[in-house]
Amino acid sequence: MNKTIGLICGSLRKESYNRIIAEALPELDDSIEFRWIELKDLPLFNEDLEVGGDPETITTFKISIQEVDGIIIVSPEYNSGIPGVLKNALDWASRPPKSSVLHRKPVGVIGATPGGLGTAFAQMQIRQTLEAVQAHVLPFQKILISQVLEKIDSDHKMLTDEKTKRYLQRYLQQFIHWIDHLPILD
Ligand code: FNR
Repeated sequence: MNKTIGLICGSLRKESYNRIIAEALPELDDSIEFRWIELKDLPLFNEDLEVGGDPETITTFKISIQEVDGIIIVSPEYNSGIPGVLKNALDWASRPPKSSVLHRKPVGVIGATPGGLGTAFAQMQIRQTLEAVQAHVLPFQKILISQVLEKIDSDHKMLTDEKTKRYLQRYLQQFIHWIDHLPILD
């Protein structure tokens, strides 16, 4: 059966390079249904907000995670770490701890930067957070996209680099394989 994958972008910037990378994914595998899971309307996490039940945006956000077979996060790195909007979203999704929608959810992590280190530090932190909520993070493959401006068109609209496209295509195949062969932990 075809898989449904939720796409989360860790940048809210309109012309985000990471969003350009995420937008390229549906073109690379038409056997997968992709759905965007947006972060821009999520409130800042505050335990007080949970007391009377989740805010509506959070309920919708959690359902959209529940409804997909896996999530791919495409995120920038800020100050050698995870962007606040993404951490905020993952903290919301981690609650309640015993029945988080991220628990055992297959997750892939990709990142792009105009710089040279491909968001390696941010990806380590994203993985650490996902491991804390017991998500099934794709373990054996990393996509670190450095010098992203050389890999998109001059209008900053689309991914053009064929090598990066091939990496991403292979990554999608591995991610689907990962979903189909998750470790059984019970
Ligand atoms: C950055 N940037 C950045 N890049 C990087 O590779 N490592 C880093 O630690 C940082 N730190 C950082 C902090 C802050 C606050 C900003 C705003 C930016 C640069 C970053 O990669 C660049 O702005 C990207 O364009 C952000 O990704 P999007 O929005 O294009 O997807």
